[in-house]
Amino acid sequence: MHIYQIESNFGLNNLKRSERDEKELGPQEVRLKMDSISLNFRDLLMVKGLYNPRQPLPLIPCSDAAGKIIEIGSEVNDWKVGDAVMPSFFANYEDGLATKQKLSQTLGGPLDGTLRESMVLPERGLIRQPKGWTHAESSTIPCAMLTAWSALHSGDKLETVLIQGTGGVSIAALQLAKSLGAKVIATSSSDEKLERLKELGADEVINYKTQTNWGKQVKSLTNGVGVDVVVEVGGAGTLEQSLRAVCVGGCIAMIGVLSGVKSEVNLTSILMRHIRVQGIIVGHKKGMLDLVSHLETTDIRPIISDRFSFDDAVGAFHHMEAAKHFGKIVVNM
Ligand SMILES: NC(=O)c1ccc[n+]([C@@H]2O[C@H](COP(=O)([O-])OP(=O)(O)OC[C@H]3O[C@@H](n4cnc5c(N)ncnc54)[C@H](OP(=O)(O)O)[C@@H]3O)[C@@H](O)[C@H]2O)c1
Repeated sequence: MHIYQIESNFGLNNLKRSERDEKELGPQEVRLKMDSISLNFRDLLMVKGLYNPRQPLPLIPCSDAAGKIIEIGSEVNDWKVGDAVMPSFFANYEDGLATKQKLSQTLGGPLDGTLRESMVLPERGLIRQPKGWTHAESSTIPCAMLTAWSALHSGDKLETVLIQGTGGVSIAALQLAKSLGAKVIATSSSDEKLERLKELGADEVINYKTQTNWGKQVKSLTNGVGVDVVVEVGGAGTLEQSLRAVCVGGCIAMIGVLSGVKSEVNLTSILMRHIRVQGIIVGHKKGMLDLVSHLETTDIRPIISDRFSFDDAVGAFHHMEAAKHFGKIVVNM
């Protein structure tokens, strides 16, 4: 079986194509033939050694993928050969509140991930694809889209939402928020991308590079109230503005740290304005099942920015690093 793995050292130069023996199938396991793998920023960080420098190597990166079941174990009841499925990001997080144990096992580190021709998974680690979706489209669901879904459900209200930038999580959050009836204010560093955000349904757009005090602008676009939920992917460099942009009693769904991990925060603003800062780490299997059912009631289609062949998978990582994409980068087998 062909795979890509981070070999003995981190770095994009050490992401190499290689081969591994096929694993034998256990009674409650299935073999998934990969069709499409979609990249997340986390995968790039993992390859560079910035996500978990202590991650043992070699490691097959990536968590998001979709394909068909080609073999089932003798005790598998829920699946049959030919079913179109996606792996769950967490191996053990089925539902409910997070625990250390539930969050510890994730694809693409510490567990070997999806950048390979096929993989063996426990039958409970799979979710059906939405009806009518292609494998490439479905490959964007397990991490990016589920994270956006979890973030949108982290507050008490969802009438207004702020999304930051035009990466995979943010575009998914825009689409899902619109499908849930919310007003969406979107930011980007590029005026051209802001136009595309409007085409996708963003009600208001702001260039965060030219309008550095964008929190205040979000407030005025919501009649001085602020948004119910901020889909926070910027981290250290955006949190201060997000605190200005969120309403009293609102929620900052803390997802990403694209601009850094350490920041000085005005704690008074959090307590005086009853703001919740909620950490989000993807979501559980029940959330993904709910998301798939919701997607089937909408006409949402993921925005696939760029497609790469398996032969050029390393190129896909370089493309993500250049941040020229709008939405998702997909590797097709
Ligand atoms: N917690 C979780 O469960 C979870 C799950 C998935 C991802 N994440 C994290 O969420 C973040 C986004 O992930 P992704 O996969 O969507 O990344 P991505 O596809 O690489 O998105 C990158 C985009 O974010 C925007 N951006 C960069 N710096 C920004 C800043 N300072 N302020 C606002 N926007 C900024 C840029 O948009 P423009 O070009 O439009 O400016 C850039 O194109 C990453 O930090 C990732 O690690 C966390």
